[in-house]
Amino acid sequence: MSDVRSIRIFDTTLRDGEQSPGCSMNLSEKLEVAQALINLGVDIIEAGFPIASPGDYEAVREIATNFRGATICGLARCNEKDIDRAWDALKHSDDPRIHVFLATSAIHREFKLKMTPDEIIDRAVRGVRHAVQYCDNIEFSPEDAARTELDFLCQVVEKTIEAGATTINIPDTVGYATPLQMHRVISTLKERVPNIDRAVISVHCHDDLGMAVANSLAAVEAGAGQIECTVNGIGERAGNCSLEEVVMAMRVRGDHYACDTQVVSNRLVPTSRLVSAITGMRVQRNKAIVGRNAFAHEAGIHQDGMLKERSTYEIMRPEDVGFEKTDLVLGKHSGRAALADRARELGYRLSGEQLQLVFEEFKKLADKKKNVYDGDIRALINSELSGAEDALWSVVSFKIQTEKDQPPKARLTLRRGDQEFTEELQDGDGPIDAAFLVTEKITGVPLQIRDYTVQAATLGHDAQGEVRISVEHEGELVRGIGVSTDTVEATVMAMLDAVNRITSASGASETTE
Ligand code: KIV
Ligand code: ZN
Repeated sequence: MSDVRSIRIFDTTLRDGEQSPGCSMNLSEKLEVAQALINLGVDIIEAGFPIASPGDYEAVREIATNFRGATICGLARCNEKDIDRAWDALKHSDDPRIHVFLATSAIHREFKLKMTPDEIIDRAVRGVRHAVQYCDNIEFSPEDAARTELDFLCQVVEKTIEAGATTINIPDTVGYATPLQMHRVISTLKERVPNIDRAVISVHCHDDLGMAVANSLAAVEAGAGQIECTVNGIGERAGNCSLEEVVMAMRVRGDHYACDTQVVSNRLVPTSRLVSAITGMRVQRNKAIVGRNAFAHEAGIHQDGMLKERSTYEIMRPEDVGFEKTDLVLGKHSGRAALADRARELGYRLSGEQLQLVFEEFKKLADKKKNVYDGDIRALINSELSGAEDALWSVVSFKIQTEKDQPPKARLTLRRGDQEFTEELQDGDGPIDAAFLVTEKITGVPLQIRDYTVQAATLGHDAQGEVRISVEHEGELVRGIGVSTDTVEATVMAMLDAVNRITSASGASETTE
């Protein structure tokens, strides 16, 4: 008989994650992430906040209607209109959950809600009762619970369970709690709330002080049965509890926590990469579990130890979290099936048409490069997926010349539909700046560059450069990714990706003429 307690993983990448700056996803991207989360084995997917926008409503409805294998949850504030809207989006799921929240801390009661404690309890109870009319799986969150007076928190929790809440989620909304405090909050609820056994206790920690994972684990040690988290820890401000870290902490240290989840751990890296590619939020190299360096050993002493006995310097195997044991090398003799297989292993679902486009680019690259690594393939797919559907502009040719003490000379030809446009200029602070200026001149779309990064997609002197940019256009941040063995070309491609996103989002089709 096993004493291992099963902890539910409630993934809120599509709601709390998506609501963080620069992380917004379109519908098809959200569906792709939802499928990846199902494959990963999460128990609950919080698919969005239906009243927040028509896009959120549509995403929750599509996911609720079409996805099976996890509970699908929608968020609502504690009022009838929000709850009705959430239910309308969720009603076609075979396993729906309505998540109702209302702030309870003194600071929120006084300054945000201007409500007394009694009014808060009354509103919370009415909200939960309203939701219960629709479905029997109701989660209630006293927002800012970690800063709420414990006596009052106990009262709110008791009354909302009495009203029908089946999960009580304890958010540390502002990332202020410490592990010991979180442990005390959960223990107190278990001791003092008479009907607490009728609900699962959940925890939802933000990472403002870098303690979201530690706080979630402390809550689990005190008896919480559900953890709310996001892939790569994305989310408001410093983010949420990181799914991969909390899951692997329980798995690797099962001896300590005596808890586990249903997560298929070797899907962690592909899922992390998918979310990173879609949101444009890069994963730091040294991030635990999924960072590129998480299993890299540089020091000679470590390498020596690893060769003698892996467990000298590794507490888990890279394969267990989805890193390739060896970087699979594809080359110019590899076929479409091998590429499709690799793409699937890397966490991508490509349509036949997308695979064809990626395959054509793969063949061109394999001609230029002897070995095509997983990182190259990921970069190719990201680049194709980001622009393939609505690509309006594409690069035909470019030439940049630089000379000491002279502004660079740039000549660029772009294609749009069946027309080609060429511009030349001698301007800019360097070749990259010249590439920006000449691209802007042709497309006529003004862009303010807010972020520009370039990094090698793989190892080796023939590595492809992956350029990611974030540009501001009419007050909105738009991402662009470009990949090429030439960094300047990758820059132009990233700009065009951003321009194509802007023009396809606005439905614009005017030319520069
Ligand atoms: O951080 C928070 O309090 C939330 C709630 C809506 C659960 O995201
Ligand atoms: Zn949150």
